[in-house]
Amino acid sequence: MGRLFRIWMFWVLFLGLIDPSQASLRPRVSFSQGSSERLLGVYDSPTLKNTTTLLLSTDADTLFVGARDALLSLDVSQPDSITFKDKLEWKASRQNLNTCKWASKKDCGNFISILQFFNSTHLFVCGTNAYGPQGIIIPAESLNASIDAKDAKNCCPYSSTQRNTATIVDEELYTATKVGFFGNKQVISRCHSRGTRNNLELENVPKLLQDPIFISSTQVASEGKILLFFTEVGDLTGDSFVNSFIVSRVAQVCTDDNGGSRVLQKRWTSFAKAQLVCQQGEELQFNKLQDIVKLSPTDNESPDSTLFYGVFTSQWSVSSGLSAVCAFSLADIKASFTGDYKTFDLGGNRWSRQPNTDGKLGTCGLFNDTDRVLSIVKTSFLAEKAVRSVGKKLLLSSTEERYSRLAVQRTQAANGQSYTVLYLLTESGFLHKVVLLAKGPHIIEEIQTFKQPQTVKNILLSKSKGELFIASSEGVFRVPVSNCSAYPNCAECVLARDPFCGWDSETRACATVTGMGSNLQQDVETGNVNKQCKDFKNTAATVTRVAQFNEIVVLPCQSRSRLAEVTWRFLNNSAVPQFPYLQRADGSLVFLITPETVNTYHCMSTEMGFEQIIATFTVILPIIPRSLPPPSHQQPDVTLDSGTESEPIPDYYTTLEFDQSDSEPTTNEKTTADRSGEKQARTNLQSTVNMNTDGKDVVCISQKSYYSEMVAFCLLFVICLFVCVAFVILWSQSIRCNKTTPQKQPKDTESDKIWGTELVEKLS
Ligand SMILES: *[C@@H]1O[C@H](CO)[C@@H](O)[C@H](O)[C@H]1NC(C)=O
Ligand SMILES: *[C@@H]1O[C@H](CO)[C@@H](O)[C@H](O)[C@H]1NC(C)=O
Ligand SMILES: *[C@@H]1O[C@H](CO)[C@@H](O)[C@H](O)[C@H]1NC(C)=O
Ligand SMILES: *[C@@H]1O[C@H](CO)[C@@H](O)[C@H](O)[C@H]1NC(C)=O
Ligand SMILES: *[C@@H]1O[C@H](CO)[C@@H](O)[C@H](O)[C@H]1NC(C)=O
Ligand SMILES: *[C@@H]1O[C@H](CO)[C@@H](O)[C@H](O)[C@H]1NC(C)=O
Repeated sequence: MGRLFRIWMFWVLFLGLIDPSQASLRPRVSFSQGSSERLLGVYDSPTLKNTTTLLLSTDADTLFVGARDALLSLDVSQPDSITFKDKLEWKASRQNLNTCKWASKKDCGNFISILQFFNSTHLFVCGTNAYGPQGIIIPAESLNASIDAKDAKNCCPYSSTQRNTATIVDEELYTATKVGFFGNKQVISRCHSRGTRNNLELENVPKLLQDPIFISSTQVASEGKILLFFTEVGDLTGDSFVNSFIVSRVAQVCTDDNGGSRVLQKRWTSFAKAQLVCQQGEELQFNKLQDIVKLSPTDNESPDSTLFYGVFTSQWSVSSGLSAVCAFSLADIKASFTGDYKTFDLGGNRWSRQPNTDGKLGTCGLFNDTDRVLSIVKTSFLAEKAVRSVGKKLLLSSTEERYSRLAVQRTQAANGQSYTVLYLLTESGFLHKVVLLAKGPHIIEEIQTFKQPQTVKNILLSKSKGELFIASSEGVFRVPVSNCSAYPNCAECVLARDPFCGWDSETRACATVTGMGSNLQQDVETGNVNKQCKDFKNTAATVTRVAQFNEIVVLPCQSRSRLAEVTWRFLNNSAVPQFPYLQRADGSLVFLITPETVNTYHCMSTEMGFEQIIATFTVILPIIPRSLPPPSHQQPDVTLDSGTESEPIPDYYTTLEFDQSDSEPTTNEKTTADRSGEKQARTNLQSTVNMNTDGKDVVCISQKSYYSEMVAFCLLFVICLFVCVAFVILWSQSIRCNKTTPQKQPKDTESDKIWGTELVEKLS
């Protein structure tokens, strides 16, 4: 049978285009850049070049931004805006610029490399000064005070392209960076030491640091230590994993250190390092640390339960995925540093074990110890035991995204339970908000922050403001951690499983959780809508689709949630069969109009066991009298079964997301054939159906203009139908049939038909 063959061919054609959707960890909702539901505050000014560093004042009202040749302060006290406050212009010296350019360096200029609070009133700022680094201390309130720049060769970075880290404790600066014109020396130093205390450096010992990249540092006050995180070239025999060419490290120095009196004079007597292992069981390691942040415990927890959340990528990314997040506990880091050590024997060129018998290695206060002890300390800096992630597992891993930076917080859900929320920036410019649930991670949403992938230098979280600040090469962005009002109804609010959001059944709005006891409907773990939204009644628009025999119809259906499963049902709730229908990966249903397929179709979404109708389509033939509108009404053809309960219908409930590229920024590539087909189908629908943009209740069909003509040509139509049915298998006749239809055909069905007939022509 010719027609059956055509249907079959068309089915096969589309089947080949289905995206093999991976069932991996994916964001539930995606917001493209500029989406009105997730507004980004942006500050970019032509004078703001090469943002390098960010610092937020303690009241979170002022954001300091280090850039090239400038330091700015921005007013971020108002929720929607970032405004200029003050600026320090600080250029590199002419002489340095000349030398730098002569050496063909790429980053000649004064790049702000370190920006920290020196004390409660002043900032400490390092500028690279075209490879002649300087440091200044300036009042935070008036940046344009005259500056007194001091050379800071061992304390400030030379280059803007290498990563470095610094922490200030009690007006003393702890820096880890590469120094020198060629960046060939690595330092972990203490500068600006108070009173008679010594400035300190690392002793020059083999294997102390091997081409490190410094990632982050932080004070751990309970231990009197500074912890530093970096990656370096691994040592085949020194490290516990032979296959690690690059290893991630945690290192320590004590803040009370003052260097030895003879051995290790003006050198750290407390430096020690250990391997950080982010690995699932015995699988390949994620060995390259990209960023790591501290999550302090609550007041009634021991400081030992401080956690460090790190983003790692893998040298062997092909087999083990692109990136992973691991957490490390302070207790485990302490255990590693108080354990045994390894000593490098230069003569034998090998590592030997150095038992920590008297328990002195890795502790603070050794600077006052005997020369004998300090000689052992000097060569015993590598802890034998690696620090493994909490639970020896990954918190999450992604095969699709390469995460580069992160921020973390704990937040209390409506029921008082606290959850860890991670904000992960991808290299491609998306921000993923992830909540760690008992069953594993859940990506609540992704927000496109940049159109072009770009180097993100910094991400800062202000818990009090509930905002993230992101510094990239294109400016400074601010993103609120949540926008609960973007969830239009109880089901969406609960399904989001966002610990920040809960449904307020009194105000009938998705509201921000403001701590325990807020009487909001929320179920972060299981998103149980049936339990939380007792009076929720789903409403969906019914769209009437006028179609002709032999036309290929595409009924679009998109669930906003990418975790929802979209299915199509008949009115009697039985599933639409796979043949002669085709459900494409974007959720739309494609079929050829035959007498059997003129029907009513529900598009259903199922998520977390909750099923709802997203849209209902009634496909009708244009000439059947019962489809004609009664003359008294203007827009009678479509009914909205809005229940007594009038939940607002979100845009996506009405399903017509015409601009695919905007609404789905990360969809896998589609072939052009698929795209053009979709576009065609969308254009048709767009002209057939007018949807009110607030997703309210108006759905109308633009056919009133041909109504009267329709009646006049009714007879002609019927004749045409008979002709069509009779000669449906024969193509040429079917064209003749079309030509005999009245000219006042609605444009959309006309073009639709041409598209459909062309396709069928190609197939036959
Ligand atoms: C939050 O969502 C609402 C509703 O979509 C929108 O009007 C508002 O602008 C959004 N706010 C932000 C800060 O994104
Ligand atoms: C500074 O920014 C410009 C333009 O964004 C970029 O081309 C250049 O490479 C950046 N320079 C450095 C040293 O980062
Ligand atoms: C902070 O340090 C600056 C520079 O040393 C000093 O002038 C200022 O008094 C200090 N402020 C406080 C509150 O200690
Ligand atoms: C900045 O400098 C100008 C002129 O030198 C001065 O009038 C102004 O008060 C200064 N601003 C601040 C905040 O100190
Ligand atoms: C170091 O030792 C000296 C003399 O033994 C003692 O006076 C001093 O208090 C010690 N310092 C510390 C910080 O332990
Ligand atoms: C439901 O309706 C469809 C089409 O109207 C029909 O093909 C199917 O047999 C019906 N299923 C049941 C169980 O009645």
